[in-house]
Amino acid sequence: MNRERRTRPGLRARVTVTFAVGALALSGVMAGITYLTARAGFLSERQAEFRRQAYVNASLVQNALRVPGTEVNQLLESVDTLPGSRSVLNTNGQWFATSISVGRSQIPAAERELVLSGTAASQTFTIAGTPEVVVGVPLPGVHAAYFEVFSLEEIERTLQTLALTLAIAAGVTTLAGAAVGQWAAGRALRPLRGVSDAAAAIAEGDLGTRVDAGDDADLSRLASSFNRMADHLQERIEREARFTSDVSHELRSPLTTLSASLSVLETQRDQLRPAGRRALDLLSADLSRFTRMVSDLLEISRFDAGSAELSLDDVDASELVRHAVVAAARPHGSDPFRAPAVPVVIEPAATDMRVRIDKRRFERIVANLVDNARQYGGGVRRVVVDAPAGAHGPGAFMRVAVEDDGPGIAPDERDHLFERFYRGHHAGRRGAGEGTGLGLALVAEHARLHGGSVAVEDAPGGGARFVIDLPVEPVAGSAGGDGPPEGTTSRVVG
Ligand SMILES: Nc1ncnc2c1ncn2[C@@H]1O[C@H](COP(=O)(O)OP(=O)(O)OP(=O)(O)O)[C@@H](O)[C@H]1O
Ligand SMILES: [Mg+2]
Repeated sequence: MNRERRTRPGLRARVTVTFAVGALALSGVMAGITYLTARAGFLSERQAEFRRQAYVNASLVQNALRVPGTEVNQLLESVDTLPGSRSVLNTNGQWFATSISVGRSQIPAAERELVLSGTAASQTFTIAGTPEVVVGVPLPGVHAAYFEVFSLEEIERTLQTLALTLAIAAGVTTLAGAAVGQWAAGRALRPLRGVSDAAAAIAEGDLGTRVDAGDDADLSRLASSFNRMADHLQERIEREARFTSDVSHELRSPLTTLSASLSVLETQRDQLRPAGRRALDLLSADLSRFTRMVSDLLEISRFDAGSAELSLDDVDASELVRHAVVAAARPHGSDPFRAPAVPVVIEPAATDMRVRIDKRRFERIVANLVDNARQYGGGVRRVVVDAPAGAHGPGAFMRVAVEDDGPGIAPDERDHLFERFYRGHHAGRRGAGEGTGLGLALVAEHARLHGGSVAVEDAPGGGARFVIDLPVEPVAGSAGGDGPPEGTTSRVVG
């Protein structure tokens, strides 16, 4: 069943979000508690102040009303009130007020009745959307009731500012929480990055890479498990490489004996019957194929064991290529005069180019490519030598392209072409001229040892074009380090 995999956010993102949510929850609760406590404190303090003021004014009004002939409106005006507060007086059933905005009808009926019946009371209510507090004081001695209305608008504004400030503080705390989470996750994950770098280096072929746990107790278990795994892996790979090398070595002496015996038989070929001669031919073809395979395997095992080394010479690039092409065009045992001439094109940039190169390995590269072009590509069309980044200086590299007249290489085959024993649709066939599928794998290894690369693409005008890029000055021990730029085609980079 094809189950869809949902991609989860990374550990760092999850830790960051957790810290942010935690900070938000904590700061939200703190802000809420602070707001409610501050609000309750403010209101009770202000209401006590309002009550105090109302009682003082009520007693002033009571004293004044005891004096006969007191002008009530003047009396109310003379009462000292807090800014924004307004007085309302009921005396002998008549209502007086200092402001037209507040009078009998604005005071809540329940409050009015309670105070007129002789009980002091205070109540919060709204006038035109503005919160107000009314404090009512009965004045039974003078048959009156004194009300004072105080506005809560200023307190509400203060509380709104406080709420806004607390919300901003909660937002800032949330952001700070997220930042701390990201930093903490980054710190916690840093050791893992070391392990992942080491794993990447091992995957790239640097089998000796290990993780150093330092003095980190948590990391040391992971590091020692990782290093143990790397030890096993390295041991196993080296054992396998040694095995291939040992087997190839062991096969060399019987092969030499077989070749010598076959040469003896060849000298007596004329005395053999036709069936015997045919058998001799088959034996000879298979033996030379076998010998080549053993020598290729030996070469490859040296790469695997890491013991392959460059033996560099300073040579003229065009001479080198011409020489290698002539040698390749004259394969073992063939008639040098019947081998078809291969045109070598030296581009102007590469005319006087000098390269430091392992000549034997370069000749093996060219021999493999020319041999392949002959076997699978209808013959070599031309070999082109170029220096796309100039012939000298840092970054300069020699580009050698071998083009053929064959069917070319299908794009989906290009990635596999450089794998060991890959023979494409030739796999399974056996014959005198058939290869073993090691040729291009070796080409890639030789190129890589120089810090270069090999790629395959379509040749202009059809056919395949194998492109080898080799640095003019290989850096010792940096196989693949400062190689030439990668092409757009399947490229095995060293
Ligand atoms: N120029 C080419 N045109 C078409 N196909 C090619 C060309 N060169 C290589 N191939 C394909 O790539 C396969 C692998 O080539 P490679 O040189 O690695 O092995 P081989 O030639 O089969 O054997 P060996 O080179 O070890 O004797 C070949 O079997 C062939 O199918
Ligand atoms: Mg080949």
